[in-house]
Amino acid sequence: MRPGRRPLIAGNWKMHTSYEEALALARGCVERIPASLAVDVAIHPPFIWLVPVSKVLEGSAIALGAQNCAAREDGPLTGEVSAHMLAPFCRYVIVGHSERRLLLHEDDAAIAAKLRLVFDHGMTPILCVGEQLAQREAGQAGEVVTQQLRAALDGLTPDRLARLVIAYEPVWAIGTGVPATPADAEAMAQLIRAVVAELGTDGAALRVLYGGSVNATNAAGFLAMPAIDGALVGGASLDVEQFSAIVQAAEALYQQAADQATMEA
Ligand code: PGA
Repeated sequence: MRPGRRPLIAGNWKMHTSYEEALALARGCVERIPASLAVDVAIHPPFIWLVPVSKVLEGSAIALGAQNCAAREDGPLTGEVSAHMLAPFCRYVIVGHSERRLLLHEDDAAIAAKLRLVFDHGMTPILCVGEQLAQREAGQAGEVVTQQLRAALDGLTPDRLARLVIAYEPVWAIGTGVPATPADAEAMAQLIRAVVAELGTDGAALRVLYGGSVNATNAAGFLAMPAIDGALVGGASLDVEQFSAIVQAAEALYQQAADQATMEA
């Protein structure tokens, strides 16, 4: 992380939690995560719990995010939830998670459309990109991520590009307990910044997260990297102790980086 770019720790609950569990988890986060942080924190419950969880989060420092939205404005699309509907409750929307790309066959066009709708409705997209294992083994990881970025971001205004959050999530690291190494994640975060810079903005302002088997033990290794500004946390975000420990690690590292910058100035 770098002073001046506010880190973001986002918890993706995926299709987990009962109603009672969702409320208890949100309450736990509010109790354990102080309001005065230099770090942004978001939780992404399933759609059905967004409204009740929004009430639990009122007055706290924790923002609400959705895991997805429809690729079109309101209209005849049975079962979908539009960005317009999410906007009163959510600050962030995850777009293009690999589970949606691979298991639910979401294509580049849908991802690009969702990204624009999230911006149109005043929210911040967290765009997920990442290669599969065979692609990494074939030395194609950089190429795959570059193509995903271009397909989603081409034509976005520099202002929107600068406000975007991008999560690098190698597919083979998600939910496997086998994270990328901090050095590999850093290399990809630098590539992501370079691609976004080519697309027309100063990549310096962009926030890039790492995701894939992040937990309280390994988080600091990623967060200490200069091009990485936070984490998208799946499994460990369902455990209040783990999630709040990751937030604390981010806060400590950010304060350390800010103190260092002050000393050097
Ligand atoms: P994980 O999931 O932390 O459980 O690996 C990360 C994600 O899919 O966002």
